[in-house]
Amino acid sequence: MSRPIPKDFILGAATSAWQTEGWSGKKDGQDSYLDEWFKKENFVWHNGEGPDIATNFMVQYQEDIDIMQDIQLTHYRTSINWSRFFTDYEACTVDEDYANHIDQVIDGLVAAGVEPMICLEHYELPKFLSDKYDGWSSKKVVELYVKYAAIVFERYGDRVKNWFTFNEPIVVQTRVYLDALRWPHEQNSKRWMLWNFHKTLATAKVIKLFREKGYEGRVGCILNPEMVYPRSSSKEDQAAAHYYDLFYNRVFFDPMVLGTYSPEFMQLCIENDIYFDPTEEELALIKQYTVDFLGVNQYYPKRIKAQRFAWAEDQPFHPTKYYEEFDLPGRQMNKSRGWEIYPQIMYDMAMYLTENYPDLTWLVAENGMGQENEQQFKNADNIIQDDYRIEFISQHLSQLLRAVDDGARCEGYMLWAFTDCVSPMNAFKNRYGLVEIDLDDHRKRVKKKSADWYRTLITDRVLDI
Ligand code: BG6
Repeated sequence: MSRPIPKDFILGAATSAWQTEGWSGKKDGQDSYLDEWFKKENFVWHNGEGPDIATNFMVQYQEDIDIMQDIQLTHYRTSINWSRFFTDYEACTVDEDYANHIDQVIDGLVAAGVEPMICLEHYELPKFLSDKYDGWSSKKVVELYVKYAAIVFERYGDRVKNWFTFNEPIVVQTRVYLDALRWPHEQNSKRWMLWNFHKTLATAKVIKLFREKGYEGRVGCILNPEMVYPRSSSKEDQAAAHYYDLFYNRVFFDPMVLGTYSPEFMQLCIENDIYFDPTEEELALIKQYTVDFLGVNQYYPKRIKAQRFAWAEDQPFHPTKYYEEFDLPGRQMNKSRGWEIYPQIMYDMAMYLTENYPDLTWLVAENGMGQENEQQFKNADNIIQDDYRIEFISQHLSQLLRAVDDGARCEGYMLWAFTDCVSPMNAFKNRYGLVEIDLDDHRKRVKKKSADWYRTLITDRVLDI
């Protein structure tokens, strides 16, 4: 079967600053939260690979841009590393070396016919601000972030038209404060919700600034909603799925798109002592400055069932008070990553958005497949034959295009990732790229089979499946 791809439908690729840059030229004191975690708990990063070298993009970025041009990529999403952008985070003293690097990357992309889409924070919260203000717990950090955004817009707003405030704003505090899985392993559910709120507030403030200054372009945020599937049609399973959706998806969707939190959500926060005490003025700002568009990251479905056990009130609050996860027997798995593969999430999420947020314009900002030990798939010419990735993309994209046919306001699909890159714990174990990064040969870039396949997809605009 062949599916035509609409002329203006974006086929791009994504990454982030910290997962590619490496520390070349980094100055003392410019650590981010991730750099700090890498130093403190090096053992959890697979083979000790981390942000220190990453893909060495700081030095080798032109090689990547040349390959983008070769495969005729039209859109590339990355971030600016807040922790490297300043030498003083409170006085907002710009590190001109780093700022020039960003200029060069943007100019290189534009010259290659690739539109840059830039995110202001892909987990790159400066360590200094975590130490001094407890990170996003503090309104001072919200204020400093808005100053950072103002300087970035002023410098690059002439060439960048698509901005995102955060990538997956729920993730860091969920791993750190809600689940205590990551350094510094502190459980604090109230702080979890406060960080959620402050990132929403920061987004509204940045949108206000952008509009008041009259820049051309748009500002959105990249969320990672999980398509929730209740185990059954029983009212208990349905209710459990509803609570999951409220705490992990609508916590950002509702205020960012509709400008309001639902009364049910607010009441649950109060009842569970995780209320974030917004002022009337803050709520009015969130109401007025909703996003221009959203990026939506999609990897796996979330299967939920009703909880079996009574909640012990003397433990810290966790949304599992209202649900349990459900392992569907026989589900298809990406065994390298431990994530279920279920391409229909693309269609179902598109329909969820169409139904609940009909005026929202959005694009898939990440979708992709991490595969372990890709070396085993090399052919005689040393090219990775990643047919599994081609199949993964095809199946997911097909579902997305079906949703577009059915009226979804989805502008495009960005693959995670353009090149292999590092990520927390996973490091370089599971590879996501269209382009291999050879760790044994000076981070040499080698296109995988999927890179040439993606080029054909971009130029021919037909998906064969
Ligand atoms: C996304 C993040 O959620 O998942 C990326 O935005 C991340 O930063 C990607 O790399 C894949 O996850 P992982 O842990 O397999 O690298």
